[in-house]
Amino acid sequence: MIFYFTGTGNSYQAARALCAEGEEPLDLAKCLREGRTAFDLKNGEALGIVCPVYYGGVPSTVLEFAGALQVSPLPEYCYTILTCASSVSGAAGLLADALAAKGILLHAAYTVIMPENDAVHYTISPEEERDAILADAAEALRVIGRCVDERRKLGLHIPPRGRMVTQAAYPYYEQDRETRHFHVDDQCVGCGKCVERCPVDAMVMENGRPKWVKDKCALCMACVRCGAVHYDEATRGKKRYVNPILKSCH
Ligand SMILES: Cc1cc2nc3c(=O)[nH]c(=O)nc-3n(C[C@H](O)[C@H](O)[C@H](O)COP(=O)(O)O)c2cc1C
Ligand code: SF4
Ligand code: SF4
Repeated sequence: MIFYFTGTGNSYQAARALCAEGEEPLDLAKCLREGRTAFDLKNGEALGIVCPVYYGGVPSTVLEFAGALQVSPLPEYCYTILTCASSVSGAAGLLADALAAKGILLHAAYTVIMPENDAVHYTISPEEERDAILADAAEALRVIGRCVDERRKLGLHIPPRGRMVTQAAYPYYEQDRETRHFHVDDQCVGCGKCVERCPVDAMVMENGRPKWVKDKCALCMACVRCGAVHYDEATRGKKRYVNPILKSCH
């Protein structure tokens, strides 16, 4: 069983790559919204969680999901695939800690470098570099798939609860994900797609324009895919990123 969280498609692509033929990964944000957090695992079935790295940690929604998750029986093998633009930092430890609180041991943490999607703090990966990054990622995912099939236990030192080390940046995620930073400009044509894409229902359409109605969101960049959406002045004049897998099917 493979769960994923994605803002701009990289982690969805990674989750799909690990699926058996005919299998679809489960959107954990959708499961949370629908209150579906209890799952039965088949005999010996692995549990996978695929998500991006944010501020050297994992998205708030992923921690919320891990906190609510109930799996029966407990997985014999649990792994995570963390997609990131450059550095995974303490993200695996943070997730391991949240799962450990539910009695789930994280046996392996894999990292895949994928294009940068953070138009707020950085410049997204230039188009001419993306194909090469995605080709390397596809190869890395093939190797990871084999490691998962072999139930390899690797890549993670799980520290005792409360002693987990994350990147010093992670506390800033809490303040930066306040939705007061978002606004929409006159390029908006009122299509409502940003609202549909928001994984945490932080937005609604009001008078033909998106409005942010929750105090905090996951800061996933799904709404920022549209050039009419801005985060203070930080995204002004910047290109936006979306993985080709979402262009074709979402
Ligand atoms: C708010 C935010 C913070 C991020 N922080 C990091 C980070 O600390 N390290 C890193 O390597 N990439 C970071 N990234 C880049 C994403 O992890 C990377 O592009 C990821 O593959 C996006 O996944 P998605 O397309 O599934 O949403 C960040 C992206 C966002 C939106
Ligand atoms: S901000 Fe963009 S995606 Fe959202 S309603 Fe306007 S045009 Fe559509
Ligand atoms: S408001 Fe935008 S950035 Fe925040 S979670 Fe929703 S789609 Fe993602």
